[in-house]
Amino acid sequence: MCIFDAPKMISQNTIQQILSRIDIVEIVGEFIKLKKRGANYLGLCPFHGEKTPSFTVSPTKEIYKCFGCGRSGNTISFLMEHEKYSYTEALRWLANKYNVEIEETETSPEYKQQQQLADSLYVINSFAQKYFSENLFNNEEGQAVGLGYLKERGFREETIKKFQLGYCLDEREAFAKQAIKTQFNTELLVKSGLVTIRDERVVDNYRGRIIFPIQNTTGKIIGFGARIIKSNDRAPKYINTPENEIYIKSKILYGSYLARQAIDKNDECLLVEGYTDVISLHQAGIENVVASGGTSLTPDQLRLIKKYTNNLTIIYDGDSAGIKAAMRGLDLALEEGLNVKLVLIPDKEDPDSYVNKVGAGVFADFIKNNKKDVVIFQLEVALKDAGNDSVKKSTVVNQVAETISKINKAEDFTKQQDYIKQCAELLKIEESGLNALVNKFIRERVSKQEAKLPINEAIYHDDRSKKGASSIEDDTLSLLQKDELHERSMIRSLLEFGLREWDENKKVADYIFEEAVDQEMIDNKLLVRIMQLYKEMYEANLEPANKFFLHHEDEEIRNLVTRIMDISDDLSPNWKDHYDGKIFTRDELYKEEVFSSLNYLKLRKIKRLIDTNQKDMEKPHSSEEQLMMLQTHKALKDMEMELTRQLGTVIFR
Ligand code: UTP
Ligand code: MN
Repeated sequence: MCIFDAPKMISQNTIQQILSRIDIVEIVGEFIKLKKRGANYLGLCPFHGEKTPSFTVSPTKEIYKCFGCGRSGNTISFLMEHEKYSYTEALRWLANKYNVEIEETETSPEYKQQQQLADSLYVINSFAQKYFSENLFNNEEGQAVGLGYLKERGFREETIKKFQLGYCLDEREAFAKQAIKTQFNTELLVKSGLVTIRDERVVDNYRGRIIFPIQNTTGKIIGFGARIIKSNDRAPKYINTPENEIYIKSKILYGSYLARQAIDKNDECLLVEGYTDVISLHQAGIENVVASGGTSLTPDQLRLIKKYTNNLTIIYDGDSAGIKAAMRGLDLALEEGLNVKLVLIPDKEDPDSYVNKVGAGVFADFIKNNKKDVVIFQLEVALKDAGNDSVKKSTVVNQVAETISKINKAEDFTKQQDYIKQCAELLKIEESGLNALVNKFIRERVSKQEAKLPINEAIYHDDRSKKGASSIEDDTLSLLQKDELHERSMIRSLLEFGLREWDENKKVADYIFEEAVDQEMIDNKLLVRIMQLYKEMYEANLEPANKFFLHHEDEEIRNLVTRIMDISDDLSPNWKDHYDGKIFTRDELYKEEVFSSLNYLKLRKIKRLIDTNQKDMEKPHSSEEQLMMLQTHKALKDMEMELTRQLGTVIFR
């Protein structure tokens, strides 16, 4: 999460109070109807369309999991996903619900420093904007070259002022001199992209260019686009601000500040490619418009749009490369539940030139009458391409089914059905066939997600058809390939059973740390971090509760811990076979679980050592060295056998 999203920090104390009151059934129950089923609660999944409930909430584990679409999470991530809250917003919502008074903390020194840096950049940008505007209107060169150019293109003075346009003199260091005189820090000036260092001198970066300031959604200037005036093959058309603390390209929609009210009012956001398209449309009285800069839409940009409206209309010129880019963001937009329409501007015009040519009224009518649903548009283009080629056509069918499968939120269920109907008609195929294909794509995605599910589900669903003594080795090997599963299982054992007794003298956590489970045994850096956090808390005599990790402020930690937690305490049928009818729960078998998780990781480590040793042996060595290596090999092999045997008795008995 970007730190600038969270101006004030909620104190740890408040967070603890909120967390201690969370009741996941109560919170989730506010949004969907839940029925008690055994120890858990069951409802219709709000994240994908379904008619039979597979959305499971566990009050004891404080997590939910949908066995239909595979989505899982905790109370906070539910609010974040369902209500589109940020982490802090979700906490505030919960605080309000549970009447917890929010205590804001002193911000951390790093945060303060970051904020100061950001503030300085805002100040520099604001100074630069005023300076460049001043040049445009009051400097002789600015008026002649800059203002002349803009007026020739038809921009009126009020429009130029509204968009705070400017001009950078065609001199080596006109701006740099002013900025240094104002005592701005050189390093920050370079960071802002307004100047560069050339031959140890601070020089202007946007010489002889029109300046388009770029505002964030609150109106602060975060950077600039600087357009060349005379076309020149050697120089880029635009020079843009480099990524820095406040200019984060993937989050920027040009014009969003000036458009937000109109987007809200019209319940529609128009998307164009360029700065000048936005400005010309504004001048024509069409204000609900933003520009993406011609790149494909990012999740952050889509989220920004979705805050204001569900209706996105992309307006591009007919043969722009930008259409392809915009289409790359299409699936994502559909997933977010946006209704995406497309309007193509004819005759090699772009929105800017077209509105100038035909006038505001005709342009607005054209947009209204030529909106095309993007999914249908894509299908039509692909069908035209495919012609009578049946192989190509079947590819098209698959593509459209995959696209439709992305529309998968419960509330978009009818929209999905509509698309299936319309597309089946266009494709001249049976609706039920397309429906089945769409479902196949949904299932495939689910099983891909399932691969990331907790170890027990994956392992016990594993193919166990091979039986007999010799298959033990094979089984062990195939399981070892699922490296990540064992690492997760290890950490899950630690989180779930760490505070239980191992023997009279120690707890499970002591045993695990004694066995030197560390970076060497676990590859996944995030899992290592979780373990270290656990260890620190444990050694400081703080009880490292699952809650702490489930609701951790680091999204990656939250997600991973949620994913590795086990929601169903049911044992897999495999266990039943091995224990003569008595069904043990994981709870009863926790020592075995810890033991085998640990042994798998040890075994993997030994296998790696054997590998390295073997590779070494292939190189030329003295006979003494050769002997040493053979002995090492033998010792490692013995250890491997012993571990495999132990594992076999626990897992495969
Ligand atoms: P365009 O080439 O369509 O530019 O690129 P434009 O803004 O419409 O300018 P005019 O009308 O030709 O004067 C669309 C957008 O792509 C990005 C800019 O954001 C631009 O507005 N772009 C383009 C760059 O970042 N760098 C470039 O060199 C070109
Ligand atoms: Mn243009």
